Amino acid sequence: RFIKSLTTSPSSHIVRRGYASEAVPERKVTVLGAAGGIGQPLSLLMKLNPLVSNLALYDIANTPGVAADVSHINTRSEVVGYASDAELGKALEGADVVIIPAGVPRKPGMTRDDLFNINAGIVKGLCEAIAKHCPNALVNMISNPVNSTVPIAAEVFKKAGTYDPKRLFGVTTLDVVRAKTFYAGKAMVPVAEVNVPVVGGHAGITILPLFSQATPKANLSDEVITALTKRTQDGGTEVVEAKAGKGSATLSMAYAGAIFADACLKGLNGVPDVIECSFVQSTVTELPFFASRVRLGKNGVEEVLGLGPLSDFEKEGLEKLKPELKSSIEKGIKFATQ
Ligand code: NAD
Ligand code: LMR
Repeated sequence: RFIKSLTTSPSSHIVRRGYASEAVPERKVTVLGAAGGIGQPLSLLMKLNPLVSNLALYDIANTPGVAADVSHINTRSEVVGYASDAELGKALEGADVVIIPAGVPRKPGMTRDDLFNINAGIVKGLCEAIAKHCPNALVNMISNPVNSTVPIAAEVFKKAGTYDPKRLFGVTTLDVVRAKTFYAGKAMVPVAEVNVPVVGGHAGITILPLFSQATPKANLSDEVITALTKRTQDGGTEVVEAKAGKGSATLSMAYAGAIFADACLKGLNGVPDVIECSFVQSTVTELPFFASRVRLGKNGVEEVLGLGPLSDFEKEGLEKLKPELKSSIEKGIKFATQ
């Protein structure tokens, strides 16, 4: 892949400013659903990411304004907006990472699965285009229900003959972001130092934070751990209710999506030991997809890491989540194969 460095490039406006010896590969990131509640702040954060050289912003509504706005920011990446189905191929061509926050969000009283009927079709169509135009891209699936949309994507890619399980990710980073914030609040430790793996899936009880492995260690009571677990599992609903009909988490999700995409880019660029939780094809349990810690590398998933030692409470949570996660996965597969 072509590499530009500041000292040698004739077009210094698209390279990262830094030391002369620094070389940053060109990386194209495409956001599908870029003008939405998540898409806009996520596009902003990707524009701020010095690892990105080309930022393609695609949406079926309001793209030109968002793209023009973001494009004025004086950072490395060149921004191009793509506004209609006819332009989707161009938006995807050459993409290294495709982030998908396209689809409808929840309103109070709805589950993520209630979004299936609309979002399954949206995701299927977008993944068909990915298979055609950038089959080697790393796909970061944000659209809900993630427990079903990731299996849908896998089936679409299988059908197209392009499926590589190392390149498909359900974005569960927001669960980790929440678990870290809530844990830091109770453990009275600096939030920036906190690490908490969150495994399982991305809906209700399928979200299983492993507070027994949280660092820095803190002596929290069983009651506090139970409450922290529930708050993490209900974090999305907490935001949906607070927004009272105006959608679900967008700003914290954009932050989480940007963290995860950045990890993918670092992995592609050969940075060692990049580890994030993600919902991926997995043999960690008997379920075909499962979120756990994943090592990212030049081809996407380098290694799916195991669960580590679980507390009795977490073991119980793991067994409880399996039937729901299994049925959401099967629902996605059925939709995409019928
Ligand atoms: P939103 O309605 O504000 O934005 C969605 C955007 O998608 C809109 O701009 C819309 O025009 C666009 N869109 C619809 N169909 C499209 C298509 N075929 N191609 C391209 N763009 C299309 O919604 P939002 O708040 O940004 O949420 C988006 C999705 O992300 C929802 O499904 C939501 O549940 C999900 N979400 C996931 C997580 C997570 O942790 N994985 C967190 C928050 C939200
Ligand atoms: C979240 O966790 O915030 C998202 O999955 C959106 C939702 O519907 O809760």
